[in-house]
Amino acid sequence: QLPALYNQTSEEVIIIAHRGASAYYPENTMPAFKAAVEMGAEMIELDVMMSKDGVPIVFHDSTLYSHTNGEGLVKDYTLEELKKLDAGSWFSDEFAGTRIPTLDEVLGFAAGKIAVNIEIKSEAVSDKVEGGVVEKSLELVSKHNMKEHVLFSSFDYLALEQLHRLKADVMVAMLFDDRQLARKLPHKLIKPLHATAFNCHFRELSRRWLKDLQEYNIPHFIYTVNNARKMKRLINSGVTGIFTNRPDVLVEVAQ
Ligand code: G3P
Ligand code: CA
Repeated sequence: QLPALYNQTSEEVIIIAHRGASAYYPENTMPAFKAAVEMGAEMIELDVMMSKDGVPIVFHDSTLYSHTNGEGLVKDYTLEELKKLDAGSWFSDEFAGTRIPTLDEVLGFAAGKIAVNIEIKSEAVSDKVEGGVVEKSLELVSKHNMKEHVLFSSFDYLALEQLHRLKADVMVAMLFDDRQLARKLPHKLIKPLHATAFNCHFRELSRRWLKDLQEYNIPHFIYTVNNARKMKRLINSGVTGIFTNRPDVLVEVAQ
């Protein structure tokens, strides 16, 4: 079931499968995304990098070492070359031959089934707006009619600015990771970045921030929580959404 991303009066927590159901399947792959839908998640989170020939692909790292049988930098390989890699064996032999998906493929699968958090990785962002990762990702979202069911986010605030310049008309979250900014309030942080939502690690979420986010009706999505007790605490404090590698656990806790 697709969550009402724009319905801020909804009291139900949005269940977000972080890199898919990544506790049980190789992260950012089709088996992980399919399992997330089957487990009852309402949104999948995925990471977007670019191939050498400029195709948005779904992959977290800037190098291939940890999550494929390849080596070197992702950006040095064309899509055709990346598609030959095994992105499943590192997790378990059972997933040998699992391929790195393109953003196009994942959105095609998700359309009509589940919302998507598209995290644009900093390494994929360039000054170039035209033909860059942000514009291309946005085009794919339009192609699959997913505008109302995507949440864009990035640690790279240039990506947020580009979404604004492109008049993206999608929900955009600032991904917080700069402790030096922790004294500032979220409603002040997001404004100059043209973001409408705020995402942070559960350890960063102070009472002061929570109060500010709720006072200003700012959707906030908290990562990455795999412990049932922590999930319960966050649900009770009224957060908008929770990222987890174990969507099945969150589904149960949220009931
Ligand atoms: O978007 C939340 C979270 O995924 C950000 O960190 O490193 O898991 O992409 P990372
Ligand atoms: Ca991510």
